[in-house]
Parts: sequence; structure tokens; C-alpha cells
Amino acid sequence: MSLEPHGGVLVNRVNEEYDVQNISQEIELDSVAFSDLELIGIGGYSPIQGFLTEKDYLSVLDNMRLASGEVWTLPITLPVDEAKAVQLQTGETVRLMYQGETYGIIDIEDMYQPDKKMEAEKIYKTSDLNHPGVKKLFEQGNIYVGGLITLIKRSKKQFPVYTFEPKETRQKFAALGWKTIVGFQTRNPVHRAHEYIQKTALETVDGLFLNPLVGETKSDDIPADIRMESYRVLLDQYYPKDRVFLGVFPAAMRYAGPKEAVFHALVRKNYGCTHFIVGRDHAGVGDYYGTFEAQELFDQFTAKDIGIIPLKFEHSFYCQACNSMATIKTCPHDHEHHVILSGTKVRSMLRNGECPPHTFSRPEVIQTLIKGLATSKEGSVGE
Ligand code: ADX
Repeated sequence: MSLEPHGGVLVNRVNEEYDVQNISQEIELDSVAFSDLELIGIGGYSPIQGFLTEKDYLSVLDNMRLASGEVWTLPITLPVDEAKAVQLQTGETVRLMYQGETYGIIDIEDMYQPDKKMEAEKIYKTSDLNHPGVKKLFEQGNIYVGGLITLIKRSKKQFPVYTFEPKETRQKFAALGWKTIVGFQTRNPVHRAHEYIQKTALETVDGLFLNPLVGETKSDDIPADIRMESYRVLLDQYYPKDRVFLGVFPAAMRYAGPKEAVFHALVRKNYGCTHFIVGRDHAGVGDYYGTFEAQELFDQFTAKDIGIIPLKFEHSFYCQACNSMATIKTCPHDHEHHVILSGTKVRSMLRNGECPPHTFSRPEVIQTLIKGLATSKEGSVGE
């Protein structure tokens, strides 16, 4: 299959020469909108070229498509509060700031008031404020500003060696001679279950793009720097060097389950992947989504609509009777033989400096996490 970006063209909204001197009006971005600005600019969110206008926003909520018809499942919006909104005008060009510096501009096409409860229910399937994505949504400004953006300056990178733009990963995969590339999204350390599904996929494709999300996550997810160290250690010891490429995904986590899974797949298509792993409760949190609901959502679209092949995996675990990793598709034994630890259990073990069993996670990964978390009090493991 071809490595076409979503919508056919890799968006490039970067112009470092753009002169902002005469633009006085500005919008201060939060960290989510800031990461979105950069991802739109470099083409990670192709075919989106700006923050969604009302027409696109409603279309995404109602049909999981942009008004142009392309599949798109998460609203990428620019919220401002009412006090800021009254200072802005449609047709105006405004600076996009982060922590006092200008990173881009937006040509305002429209401003609109979202129905947040409706957005929460359509995207997150709940308006419960205990859901981290819903909580964030209700904390944001009440007016959305839509329009084309231009990225003028790149952000300072937390992991410069592992940061690649979609055009660079595409070049890299071509240089490696990979024709089929499986993308792997994660916000967690790579435990044995993750390793198992990655390696199962690697049996049939040319390369694995390990693409951990390092943008904003909820406070009890393991901090990105500790995770990165654990990925390096794991890849070094357990993966063939010429079959894996590690690069970070600088987006924020939304915890939108199924809709975020499709979004994750489309973005990895833009980075040049042909396949994308979707396991149990992808991008889920708590009990808001069914275990395989994310996989099922892909079935609502044609292969052409999505343009990247989802590789769906059952819940995997270590079976002590099989003496290997397995799923219910490959293992005949009862639950009592299966090593399945809850996120809470692993979290408390790591906090106490205890090692979860090697059947759950590689010892080198555990040691890295224990060491990293010892200096980062609030770190923990989600599942
Ligand atoms: S996510 O929020 O980024 O999706 P996580 O890092 O836990 O969370 O998962 C990364 C990918 O691995 C997702 O596709 C998820 O469905 C899959 N996954 C995680 N744990 C398992 C498991 N035990 N069995 C099968 N798939 C899993």
C-alpha cells in the first residue's frame, strides 16, 4: 500500500520568515494547543491546516469527518475565554504565544461557542468531570477560534535526538528500505504485553516505529523522561537494532478511547506508517470504554477512508502454564495461570521499590522505573 498522508498531501504550514512585527493582538496557548499548533504546522495532523472552524468542528462531532469528507475523529480547537474573545475579530491575524514567546499566527476565520456537554458526550462518551479529558475540556475557555495557522518557530525539544517531523520519518523509513511500518502509540513503559504485540506485528512487517506520546498526560502517568530511559534500555537489550525506530509523538493525551485510537492511527499514517497497533482499551482511562471498543470503531470506516491498517490485538498476558506470552486466542489455560497486574498494583509496587515479576516486565525496565520514580514522587504506572 502507498504511504500517502491523510488527505493525500503532507501539510506544511511552516514559515520561519513570517514577519509578526505589526501584529499586536495575541492569544496565549495552553500546552495542549501549543503542541497542536506545532503538529498542524509540520503536517502531523494532515489534512488539517489550522484550528477547526465551526463547520469542521460540528462535522467532526456529528460524522467523525471534516466538512471536506476526510475521516477525523478529534476536534483540534483553539479555546479562549470570553474576555479575550471580545478583543478579537474575524478576518484578523493574531499571534499565537506560549510562555510569552510567539510561535505562530492564526488568520481568524470564525469564533464560536461550543456546547461543551455535547462535545464531551460525543468525543468522550461521558460528561463526568472525573474523566481527565472532560475535566480539561470544561476548564478551557468557552469560545473557540477557528482558522488557518502558520508555524513560525519550533518549540524547544525535550528529546531532541528522538524528535522527527513526518517528512523526516518518511525519509528515514525509505532510507531503511522499509515498505511496511507498524506504528505503536504508548503513554506507558513498554511491558511484556506491549513487547509481545509489537514483536508479533514485527513478524509480518518490515519495521516498528515506537512512537511514545510525550505531550501532556495525566499526573499519575509515568513522566516521559523516565519512560524514554526505559525504552532505550529495553530496545538495547531485547530488540533487533535494524528493525525498530524510536521517535517521540509530541501530542497531548486526551484519553478519548476509540476516537483517539482512530486519530492516533491517522497521525501515524502521516508519519509514514502503513500499519498501526490497537490493543486492549487503546487510549482509555477508568471504565469509560469497552475493552475492544477502539478496535470496533475502525470497522465503521472503509480501508480507503482510513488508509492505514489497524492491527488488532487481544488482551495479552504471560501464561505460567504455557511458559510464554499469549492471549486467549493462543492459550487454553484458565485465568489463574495468567499474570495480569492492575496499574494500581504495579504503581504501588514500584513506589515501594518492589519489582513486579519478570513475567510482567523486563527486569531492566523495572530497575529503570524504580530508579526514575525514586526521584519523581508523583510518577506511577497506568495500564
Ligand atoms: S495508550 O493510552 O497509549 O493506548 P498504553 O500505553 O497502555 O496506553 O497502550 C499502548 C498500546 O498497547 C495500545 O494499543 C493498547 O491497546 C495496547 N495494550 C496495552 N496493554 C495491552 C495488553 N495487555 N494486551 C493487549 N494490548 C495492550
